[in-house]
Amino acid sequence: MCGIVGYVGKQQAAPIILDGLSKLEYRGYDSAGMAVFDGKYIQIQKSVGRLKVLEELTHDGRTMPGVLGIGHTRWATHGAPSDVNSHPHYNEEETIAVVHNGIIENYIPLKNKLLKKGYTFLSETDTEVVAHLLDYYYKGNPLEAITKVLHRVEGSYALGILFADHPDTLYAVRKDSPLIVGKSDEGCFIASDVPAILKYTRNVYYVENQEVACMTADSLHFYSVDEEELEKEAVTIEWDASAAEKGGYEHFMLKEMHEQSKTVTDTMSPRIKDGKIVIEELGLTDEEICNMSRIYMVACGSAYHAAMTGKYVMEGIARIPVEVDLASEFRYRDPILDDNSLVIVVSQSGETADTLAALREAQKRGCRVLGIVNVVGSSIAREADNVMYTWAGPEIAVATTKAYSAQLIALYLLSLKFADVRGKITKEELTDYMEDLKRLPQQIELLMNNKERIQRFANRYIAAKDIFFIGRGIDYAISLEASLKLKEISYIHSEAYAAGELKHGTISLIEDGTLVAAVSTQPALYKKTLSNIVEVKSRGAFVLAVTTVGNTEIEKAADYVIYIPETNPFFTDSLAIIPLQLFAYYVSVGKGCDVDKPRNLAKSVTVE
Ligand code: G6P
Repeated sequence: MCGIVGYVGKQQAAPIILDGLSKLEYRGYDSAGMAVFDGKYIQIQKSVGRLKVLEELTHDGRTMPGVLGIGHTRWATHGAPSDVNSHPHYNEEETIAVVHNGIIENYIPLKNKLLKKGYTFLSETDTEVVAHLLDYYYKGNPLEAITKVLHRVEGSYALGILFADHPDTLYAVRKDSPLIVGKSDEGCFIASDVPAILKYTRNVYYVENQEVACMTADSLHFYSVDEEELEKEAVTIEWDASAAEKGGYEHFMLKEMHEQSKTVTDTMSPRIKDGKIVIEELGLTDEEICNMSRIYMVACGSAYHAAMTGKYVMEGIARIPVEVDLASEFRYRDPILDDNSLVIVVSQSGETADTLAALREAQKRGCRVLGIVNVVGSSIAREADNVMYTWAGPEIAVATTKAYSAQLIALYLLSLKFADVRGKITKEELTDYMEDLKRLPQQIELLMNNKERIQRFANRYIAAKDIFFIGRGIDYAISLEASLKLKEISYIHSEAYAAGELKHGTISLIEDGTLVAAVSTQPALYKKTLSNIVEVKSRGAFVLAVTTVGNTEIEKAADYVIYIPETNPFFTDSLAIIPLQLFAYYVSVGKGCDVDKPRNLAKSVTVE
């Protein structure tokens, strides 16, 4: 969701900005633009459409010479995708240029005030208000103008700013939208995310809320909103730029699915030590774990589905009541939290606006928040009381796969830890669970190796109109995620239903040949789901069953069966989701969809 890249230094800015923006394409966008100071003026080029339109427009940046610039990929919120609404935005004299990610919530009163003062607006965006407001406050000192603007604007923002009067300085500031600063011998960089600048530097500064960064080719200073200089430490990024490249795979999604067994290992192995689950970063004493009355798991999208599985596992193994909430609901539903509740927010990006707001809401009510987060140094990671990282590395495809798999592992580990501390499982049971966990990476690889079979099956369904996923218990949570995967990247209408709920309405949608994917990995529910398969079959459905090896009886009822290796029933999501991710992927490829960047979607949803 909106990407920002900026540069000031010894090199030409435009090619660096274009390259950086291409690394942020995964965030989702509908238009792109760039502003470069050419030695005399700030030049802007922008256009609706993909980044390649901007590349063509500027001859890969060659028509925009200069060593200071900012660029932007826009995901429209205020004002339709159009050339004029694209960023950067200027003040009227075209001496100040701004790119923005986030939403200026009070832009209407600010705009009205500026209109009264004679300012004219070209776009429908909230961002243009910032350009004019900067102009209004600018009396020769950019830092002073920026901090004055910060006192006036409400909402979320990451801003990259150029002043023609200060042609050697790049300015940036953020509040509740992601922004990092990088520094190398060649200059300074700003970006919404690390992959955009990793090619140029590993020295990264995480900008905190309302900190202003002022950068030149060889200097970098941070200031508070009161213009006091701040000391900040750089963080060295350990992972390699190649981790954010396709590495020979046709799509990031395929590469990331293949990385799942490694992701699972990386998330799990540092936390299984000497026959125990050790989660050092948890920050809870055994007494606090024992006194815990309830857990709230709060998230959006796939992270919410991981939390749904987490609920079954936590309640099943640790016997702690768990409520799972969509973050966008939790933040407004006046939840009843007490001192002994733990709120767990789950997020790949660590920047999802609703999840971040839910975290703050919980903290405001005196509740402790544990973040299960993938992106190191993200807002949720910084604001949560404690963070348990999923070590999935950078995930680029909009449709999450490896981060989801890592989230499941984090939730299994937490459940086992809590169960152990609360005396709900014996030492032997814990050992058995851990043995099953350790087998998962290999089993995932086995399933990935069978991808051609799934591809052949998926090819039959590229023209499907509706596809249903059914399951009970954890199989229902798996169905929700499988259905989301399919619809988000293939644009085929798909729904997931608790198998027992089908006959209360949805079954009327089943017609001759409708594909129903039935997930049945829970031994206690196997017979029940089998009956549901028979019900849909008798109404004409074509049934794809996903079940555990050995359940051959299902072949009598289902038309096509995918077997997953045997594991503990609490952990089957980690295996059953693999063929279903592959199914979604191959349907999308077969239809010729933009697999990694599906229409209308953003990887990181930083607005409400
Ligand atoms: C977006 C993405 C989803 C993701 C959701 C939550 O909608 O497209 O793939 O599951 O946000 O994101 P988070 O970064 O908080 O896990």
